[in-house]
Amino acid sequence: MVELGGNGLPQISKGLEGVYVTSSSISKVNGQEGKLYYRGFSIESLSENSNFEEVVYLLINGSLPSKPQLDEITAQLSDNRDLPDGIIKIIKELSGKGHPMDILRTAVSALSSYDKEVSDTSPAANMNKSLRIISKMSSIVAATGRFVSGKEYIAPDKSLDYVENFLYMLNGERPSAEQADIMRNMFILHAEHSTNASTFGTLVAGSTLADIYSAITAGISVLKGPLHGGADEAALRMMREIGDPENTESYIESALEGKKKIMGFGHRVYKAYDPRAKIIKKYLVKYQNGQFDELRKLASIALRAEKLMIDKLGASRGIWPNVDFFAGPVYLAAGIPPELFTPIFATSRSAGWCAHMLDYWKDNKLFRPLEWYTGSIDLEYIPIEKRQ
Ligand code: SDX
Repeated sequence: MVELGGNGLPQISKGLEGVYVTSSSISKVNGQEGKLYYRGFSIESLSENSNFEEVVYLLINGSLPSKPQLDEITAQLSDNRDLPDGIIKIIKELSGKGHPMDILRTAVSALSSYDKEVSDTSPAANMNKSLRIISKMSSIVAATGRFVSGKEYIAPDKSLDYVENFLYMLNGERPSAEQADIMRNMFILHAEHSTNASTFGTLVAGSTLADIYSAITAGISVLKGPLHGGADEAALRMMREIGDPENTESYIESALEGKKKIMGFGHRVYKAYDPRAKIIKKYLVKYQNGQFDELRKLASIALRAEKLMIDKLGASRGIWPNVDFFAGPVYLAAGIPPELFTPIFATSRSAGWCAHMLDYWKDNKLFRPLEWYTGSIDLEYIPIEKRQ
């Protein structure tokens, strides 16, 4: 029975703020100190030492893989990169029409029709489907990037690792060491973040025992919003609107006066500097004196905006840079177009979505929260001819 307060109303937590809906050992987000751990390993240690295949294994299985285990998951992710012709046709047809996040959502949803195990809910089948999805999402995003720029699909190169292959399928050539390192890090940093909105959306869908394709499609749908994964593209758009670093402070000040939210700042859990933003920022600082004019300007704008926002809202309001703020210029440096930022976020986060879904299904419970009804009851039905 629901406890009602003295005023006869239940305790409503809008947006489930501060409410625990499940427990897991997949990741720990320490919002007060700005720390993040995947299965107990700090994001800093994984950023420095790991790769995306190893992080996928760690998130799903709960420990770092042995060499044979790493080789096996690397092979599974590599073997599943191919896309059915029908999916390539859908991506080509929609490219240039819908946003790449809509294309990703549609293609992942359509992939379920090509998976013979779609209705098999055994743990082994769910694991196989998870790895297929994680693998194919990178091919879908790369294919979209090709088609929107008027180029042809490039088939995967199974001799490359996950991130290198993504860049190869996108650009038609093997990445430079710098590009590969940036994207290795971005895929690790975006892979998991406890019950954020899109992971929660994934769990809600899967808690009805809908299949993992339906659950991940829900996750992609939720991540798209600018309050969540869409903030990376929105933050870069803002930086480009500012244009000249000298305009940074006045732009931000007037946006705040107009009660606008500055994309890439603030967080429901972090009331300290997002540790992922600190890592991404390291790449950005290098571009301040770099040779590329736009990157130099964007780096200067981002760092001036960071300083102003921290001075004004950091300690006082707990509004700090989050993972999305510095990502845009860094993705540009790796040759990624803005419309692919959030699809890449989704591709990386598919590891966390799948890890949480497989974990939750071990002790599944349908999500069905309550809503406090504020309307009337037992009204008399008035025939249409008697209504005003
Ligand atoms: C991600 O949850 C996760 O873990 C997400 C994520 C992950 O890895 O999955 O970390 C990834 O989504 C990062 C967040 C990306 N989104 C943005 O950068 C969008 C801009 N940020 C805000 O919209 C906001 O900070 C949220 C949505 C992220 C969090 O908002 P909350 O917790 O719902 O808080 P709120 O919107 O109610 O804000 C509280 C106050 C408000 O002021 P008042 O109305 O009380 O006067 O803080 C203000 C807000 O206006 N505020 C901001 C602000 N963020 C909050 N003011 C200016 N700029 C901002 N960015």
